Amino acid sequence: MSHLHYRATALAHSNIALAKYWGKASVEQNLPAVPSLSLTLEGLNSRTTVAFDAALPEDHVVLDGLELSGRAAQRASALLDAIRQLAGLGWHARVDAENDFPTAAGLASSASGFAALVVASAGAAGLALSAGQLSALARQASASAARSLFGGFVALRAGSDAAEPVASAEHWSLSMVVAIVGAGPKATGSTEGMLHTAATSPYYAAWVDSAPGLFDAVHAAVLNRDLAALGQSMEQSTLMMHASMLAARPALAYLTPSSWAVIEQVYRLRKFGIEAYFTMDAGSHVKVLTERHTEQKVLEALVAVPGVDRVLVCRPGRGARLLEPDPHESARTG
Ligand code: PMV
Repeated sequence: MSHLHYRATALAHSNIALAKYWGKASVEQNLPAVPSLSLTLEGLNSRTTVAFDAALPEDHVVLDGLELSGRAAQRASALLDAIRQLAGLGWHARVDAENDFPTAAGLASSASGFAALVVASAGAAGLALSAGQLSALARQASASAARSLFGGFVALRAGSDAAEPVASAEHWSLSMVVAIVGAGPKATGSTEGMLHTAATSPYYAAWVDSAPGLFDAVHAAVLNRDLAALGQSMEQSTLMMHASMLAARPALAYLTPSSWAVIEQVYRLRKFGIEAYFTMDAGSHVKVLTERHTEQKVLEALVAVPGVDRVLVCRPGRGARLLEPDPHESARTG
């Protein structure tokens, strides 16, 4: 039996928030309660192929060789449903996704993963959508994924449907040096963690009140290329987000003693005159922002911290994109 299928492959980079998103204004629509601003990073990549296939009775989503089930598979299928509806396509899809970094460990794998999925599936379905439209679709699966549609510095405003570009990857030669500490699947996913924080933490309201001011400070510092100002606001945004989680009942603690050892090392670097600032997400890894000319010194300092398994150096990258020139290619298979 032979049949037609439509396929496309996309590449998306992850992004790390400089002003953090934590909390939802609408759970159903997955709209953020606070504004966030991120940096898209080359070196944390998802490469995803989507093939819509008339012969498939259901969607199959394979990540790093393993077929997904449960909530992760449902989120991918919901995104595919949105694409199918826009394209008037009834076929199910096979999705093959690969990440070149540890998944589900606070390294924003959902950001690059869903950004690559939305671009590949729209390409495979023959839809020509704008980056803003693709960002809005990705946001429904993961708000941080909305930001990976764009390169460089990217904002996602509170209650907003799609992310928007702030400055290109070339705007500022920064490096994000990522210290992998105790890699392993995270205990609590970000959606669950946000809902738990909002429901039980007396510090959640204070976080939501402070986030817009921190966003504005980060935004201005990015435009002015002022690393000291950016670093201070980024660290405060990070620690206020984690403080809101720590005040939840029971506490949501993503940071480990090794994470704190890396933070101490960053303070030490600053004492020695090296401008470096930390940020952490829903996991134990610590990402350190510095300028290109000091990335090597920061790398060496982080490698030396006990408990650090691996250090990756990432630089600003481009937005999610198709890798195949002819996205609406059709092929015959047997
Ligand atoms: O969009 P999600 O569900 O992957 O949430 C991301 C939340 C943080 O990574 C902790 C912060 C952020 O702004 O990326």
